[in-house]
Formats: sequence, structure tokens, C-alpha cells
Amino acid sequence: MSRTLIRGGLVITAADEVHADVLIDGEQVVALAAAGSAVAEGWTADTVIDAGGKYVIPGGVDAHTHMELPFGGTFASDTFETGTRAAAWGGTTTVVDFAVQSMGGALREGLDAWHAKAAGNCAIDYAFHMILADVNENSLKEMDLLVDEGVTSFKLFMAYPGVFYSDDGKILRAMQRGADNGGLVMMHAENGIAIDVLVGQALAAGKTDPRYHGEVRRELLEAEATHRAIQLARVAGSPLYVVHVSAQQAVAELAAARDMGLNVFGETCPQYLFLSTDNLAEPDFEGAKYVCSTPLRPKEHQAELWKGLRTNDLQVVSTDHCPFCFSGQKELGRGDFSKIPNGLPGVENRMDLLHQAVVDGHISRRRWIEIAAASPARMFGLYPRKGTIAPGSDADIVIYDPDAEQTISASTHHMNVDYSAYEGRQVRGKARTVLSRGTVVVDDDRYLGRAGHGRYQTRQTCQYLV
Ligand code: URP
Ligand code: ZN
Ligand code: ZN
Ligand code: ZN
Repeated sequence: MSRTLIRGGLVITAADEVHADVLIDGEQVVALAAAGSAVAEGWTADTVIDAGGKYVIPGGVDAHTHMELPFGGTFASDTFETGTRAAAWGGTTTVVDFAVQSMGGALREGLDAWHAKAAGNCAIDYAFHMILADVNENSLKEMDLLVDEGVTSFKLFMAYPGVFYSDDGKILRAMQRGADNGGLVMMHAENGIAIDVLVGQALAAGKTDPRYHGEVRRELLEAEATHRAIQLARVAGSPLYVVHVSAQQAVAELAAARDMGLNVFGETCPQYLFLSTDNLAEPDFEGAKYVCSTPLRPKEHQAELWKGLRTNDLQVVSTDHCPFCFSGQKELGRGDFSKIPNGLPGVENRMDLLHQAVVDGHISRRRWIEIAAASPARMFGLYPRKGTIAPGSDADIVIYDPDAEQTISASTHHMNVDYSAYEGRQVRGKARTVLSRGTVVVDDDRYLGRAGHGRYQTRQTCQYLV
């Protein structure tokens, strides 16, 4: 087996920052040694990577992506091939995507369909959550089988009536089942029934522009749904993970629950940390580029999200990567904001945007690695195979240049989408070399990976419970 030595870098994990040499044998990390001692230790390697002046970090774990998702009459524009390649470029080495149960269909059918889309196409390792769109006797039973085979988390929706929506009774039953089988319920927490009333009223009043998407999806309706989801989880005796949290009032609900010692967790996304309703209000329908749910919020909310990330009231930053081209896809909603497909691209940008947050003083370097790699890996049962650099871990490693300057742009990104939500934004930091299970897949602006290198990952149940 081929041995690789990464020499001279600052190894950063959620727990430590140490100058160390990292030895990889085949697909795994086998040892760390004090900087410069590799030779004295008698380590030999086929390949030596000089990481002097660079960070050596675990590859990012993006626990929320939607490659090829059918949504709003179209499909998310990144395939598993293009989306995972873009992830690799940005220093992410594992994605957890969402297989979808169709209405009236079995979980198994949905999962098989998503396996068929991904198999042989991924540049990096991948796993699946399951979207429970139709909670019934059969799908509840199937949850047990999926947990046994390593699909250990299930997304439910309090939004999107008629599409993915589950009522409180269905949610409670899924949570009860999760409490029993170890499956973690992930919640899209927005009161979709009330939102649909407001959507109808806005459109009837001639309010059709993208910015009204943000106005009708009220902060209070995210907070209310978050509160309700927490109470339902308490009744069921189950843990709860709330996805794509954007409103400060929802953060407050999570913080209050955590202060009570509950196993309640929250995720936010770069778009909520770096973008705002100002973007949704951009003229000439440009605001459509920023339509996602939960929606972008006024800038004031960002400080509360950063605080939540520092206090661990929010544990994870994922992208909710769900790209739709402006041309031909976002445009489906010209004249009716409710027809704009929901979702933003970002799988390639997450590690860099969060590093910029380190530069800006929002979070520490170790917290960067924690929220972007270690915590998502623990939350979704991939730790310590993923999310850290330790003997026995997969050698998913990024040599990160903290001083590189880059300008984010659709003209240079690798995602299959015709715009960037962060166009023109300057960030400091860049993945120089990216290893996936010991194989170099990106090196100095060259892509060396291949479709099919990425391997499906079965998962343990949540490793984050108190
Ligand atoms: O707008 C979003 N978030 N689109 C993806 C689907 C979801 O609700 O996560
Ligand atoms: Zn959602
Ligand atoms: Zn507000
Ligand atoms: Zn999503």
C-alpha cells in the first residue's frame, strides 16, 4: 500500500492545534508525530507533501446537500458527479445527501433511486439521510430497517403542504419511532400551513417579486414551528435536529431547550450567516437567486447565529446546497415568487466562507473545524472515520493555505450553476491539496479525482447525545 507523509503543517482538529507530521498508509491515517520527527521515527513514505506554512485539517463534512433534487417542477442542477467534484475543490470530502420517499411510495424505493443516481458518480464519499414524505404504518416499519443498514436520520417537513408536509400527528409518530430505533429526526421547521395563507394573500395583492418570499415566510412562523417541534420531541422522548435555522427567534428556542438539558440540535448555513433580505430585494428579479427556505433574514439576525455557533446552541454549518440556474430555473417564478424553485448553491464555498469567519473573528480555528467537520460527523454517526485526523481515521485531509486570497465567482467555481450567491466576495484561505481516503483529488488548481472514487458510507446512530 502506498504511504504518504504530510510534513510541517499545523494540524487543526476540533480538539487541538499541533505542529505535527501525519503519516497515511493506504486510505487511513496511521500516525501523527511531533513536527520534524517523522524521519527520526523511521517513517518512510512513497510521497511526501510539504505543508509548511499551511493548515492540515480534516476534510469538510457537508451534512445537507441536494444533488439532482426534483423540486418545483425542475431538478437541482448539480448531479452527484458535478456536485461532489465541486465539493472536493472546496475542501469538503464527505456529503450527506437526502434520498426522497415519494408520496405513497416505500422508503426502500426512494433510497434505491438515490443510490442509483450516486453510485459510480461521486468524487468524494457520500451517505444518505431519508426524507419521510409519507408517514404511515409501512414507512414507520421501514425506518427500523434503514437505521439497521446505516441510514440513521430522517427529515420531516412542517412546511410545503401537499409536497413534503407532515402534520403534528405524523411527526410525533416518526419521533416516537426514532426514540425507539435510534433514528434522528431532522426538522424543516416552518409553519407551512400559515405560510401558504400568507403566500395566497400576497399574490392576490399583486406582491409577486422575490422579496415577498422572505416577507411571507415570517420569522415568527419559523420560531413557532421550532418550538412545536421541540415540544413534540419531548413528548416522544426523542432527540431533534433542526435544519437550516435562520431566524434569531428560532435560535432562542433551541438555546432555551438546550438550557433544559435536552438533546436538541441546530444547523445553520452560510447563506444565513453572509447574506440577507437585502439580497432578496435586488432589482430585476435578481432576488430570485437568493430564494431558499427557510428564507434569508434581515442582517441583524446574523449576530445571533454567530453567537449560537460560539455557544454551541448551533452545532453544525451545512450548505443545504440545492442549486438552480438563474436562467430557465429560477426564472420559472417570474411574476409569482411562489414558483421560484427554492435553494442556493454553496457546497464549494462553505469551508472558505467559514475560514473567512475565523479571519473576521467570529469563531476560532478549532471551532471552524468543529462546526464544518467534526460535529456533523458525530451528529450523523460518521466519527471518527470522518471529521478528524487521528490514527484509524480515513485520510480525508485538506492542506489549507490560510493566506491565499480569492474572489468567489461563477466564472471560476466548479458547481454546475450559472451564478454564485457570493459573486465578487473576497475571502482569505483556500484548499491547496485535498485527499480523499489517501488519494489526492485536488492539487494546486488541478483536479486529479474521478467520478466513482467516492464510496457510500453507512452510518452509526447519532454520536452527539448527552
Ligand atoms: O430552499 C431550500 N432549502 N431547498 C431545499 C429543500 C429544503 O427544504 O431543504
Ligand atoms: Zn428544508
Ligand atoms: Zn428580525
Ligand atoms: Zn435542504
